[in-house]
Amino acid sequence: MARIVAGIGSSHVPAIGAALDNGKTEEPYWKRIFSGFEKSQAWMRETKPDVAIVVYNDHASAFSVEMIPTFALGCAAEFPPADEGWGPRPVPVVKGHPALASHIAQSVILDEFDLTICNKMEVDHGMTVPMNLLFGKIEKNGRWPCPVIPLAVNVVMYPPPTGHRCFMLGRAIRKAVESYPENLKVVIFGTGGLSHQISGPRAGLINSKWDKSFLDNLSKNPQKLAKIPHIEYMREAGAEGIEMVMWLIMRGALDEKVDEVYRFYTVPASNTAVGHIILANRGRDGKSANKSAAKPKRSAGKLKRAAARVKVDRIHS
Ligand SMILES: [Fe+2]
Repeated sequence: MARIVAGIGSSHVPAIGAALDNGKTEEPYWKRIFSGFEKSQAWMRETKPDVAIVVYNDHASAFSVEMIPTFALGCAAEFPPADEGWGPRPVPVVKGHPALASHIAQSVILDEFDLTICNKMEVDHGMTVPMNLLFGKIEKNGRWPCPVIPLAVNVVMYPPPTGHRCFMLGRAIRKAVESYPENLKVVIFGTGGLSHQISGPRAGLINSKWDKSFLDNLSKNPQKLAKIPHIEYMREAGAEGIEMVMWLIMRGALDEKVDEVYRFYTVPASNTAVGHIILANRGRDGKSANKSAAKPKRSAGKLKRAAARVKVDRIHS
């Protein structure tokens, strides 16, 4: 059967994509951010997922304000990068996994989650920036390392789904994946956030204390996060902080107890707090289901110690 081995949380700041595309990754401002994902990319190369499910939000690229589905699943064979005003990003077309995506759609909809099925969809920075951060820079004529199933969530127009609804959708996705007969190793991304507000009197708001508490509870007490109302995201994490509900879909798709493999947090990128976490499932036997992730070449202990050092180096309050 297919199985979800790990979840990845990552901000999707558009300026990170622009920095990558315009060759600015070695500039000190951006190096501070990109260097925080180097170990994550090594982890991803070791893990070698067969499929990635990427939970993200569209920024009026595939869907205009005239039509915004709450949850939209990409079931197409491919997803071209969208033109977000400066031409499409120079990244490869994203190849989908229509068979698994259709299976997830059937399972989840019959579980009473009303997904919109997208058989043609362009994808914007909300999806391609986290893919770059975890898979690295890939030239336009290259290939992403694995097929990707996009799940677009409305967090741009009120009312977005609740954190609890997102968490429960994650559980339904896990059930769907585990009922797929092919032996596939799947990772799931939750993207967006962390705290930021891009307009209005509180533009530039960043709340590191709240962000770090969110990351702590993502590992240890996601049920608590699932109870956070929209107004708290707005008040504590800024108007665009509501994107963080998408991380709860990722978390809902994981085991109750997970191993935190890596974490990175820094401010700012553009006017946004950048958060990143990798959580590995332990599996039914209490051991990590993702053995290659838990025991990379340098050993899990070394990776965790290295991650801890990075935390000390990189986490700013
Ligand atoms: Fe966004």
